[in-house]
Amino acid sequence: MHAVGIVAAAGSGSRLGAELPKALVPLAGRPLVGWAVEALQAGGVDEVVVVVPPAERAAFAEALPPAVVLVDGGPSRTASVRAGLAAAGSAAGVVLVHDAARPLTPPAVVERVLTALADGAAAVVPVLPVVDTTVVVDGDGVVTGTLPRATLRRVQTPQGFDRATLVAAYARLADDADLTDDAAVVRAAGVSVATVEGDDRSAKVTVRHDLDLAELQVRR
Ligand code: CTP
Ligand code: MG
Repeated sequence: MHAVGIVAAAGSGSRLGAELPKALVPLAGRPLVGWAVEALQAGGVDEVVVVVPPAERAAFAEALPPAVVLVDGGPSRTASVRAGLAAAGSAAGVVLVHDAARPLTPPAVVERVLTALADGAAAVVPVLPVVDTTVVVDGDGVVTGTLPRATLRRVQTPQGFDRATLVAAYARLADDADLTDDAAVVRAAGVSVATVEGDDRSAKVTVRHDLDLAELQVRR
C-alpha cells in the first residue's frame, strides 16, 4: 500500500497574524510545515507533496527536505488540496491529507489512519469527543437548543482516503467549491467515512494561543 501525504500549507494564516505565511512560522525554531511533514513520515507515509503559496515557493523549498514535492496552492483549502491531489500520481494507493497547521500530530494517529485504510476503509478521519456543552444560537446570540454531545465529534487531520475514491469525489465537485475538509468532499459523493481516535496533541494552530500551547508541548 503506497501512501502519499498531501500537506495543505498554502494558507496565509490571517487569524494567527504573523509576518510569515502560517506554515513557515517557527515552532521551537522549525517551521510548522517541517513538523507536519515529519509527523507523516514518522507514521509511515512513503512520499510527501506540500501545497504552498505560489509566491513563497522558494522559502518552502529552503525549509523542507529535497525529496518533498512542492505544488502551487489555490485560493481555498479545497483548491489547494485539489492541486496536491493532481500531483500525487497514480502510484499512490492511498492518500493522507494533512494540515501544515497541525505540527505535533503523534505518529500513532497517522498509523491508525493507515491501518483503517489497509483494513478496507475508503475514507477515514481522526476524531475526538466534544467535552463542552454545545448549543445552537439564533442571530441575536440567544440559545435555541442544545446538541446531543454524545454523538458529536471534532474532526482532525490527517484524513485518509483510497486515492481513486478521493480523485473521483474531487472530480464531481464544483470548481469553486470551498469545504473545510476532505471528508466532506467524499461524503458529498456518497462515500461512507470511518473514524479512528484522534489526539489532543494534534490540535490545529489557528490563533496565537495555539502556538503558545504548541511551544509548551515541545518543551515538556
Ligand atoms: N490552506 C491551504 N490553501 C488555502 C487555505 C488554507 O493549503 N488557500 C491550508 C493552510 O495552510 C492550513 C490548512 O489549510 O495548513 C488549514 O487552514 P487554516 O487553519 O484555516 O489556515 P489558514 O487559511 O492559513 O489560516 P486563516 O484561515 O486564519 O487565514
Ligand atoms: Mg483558513
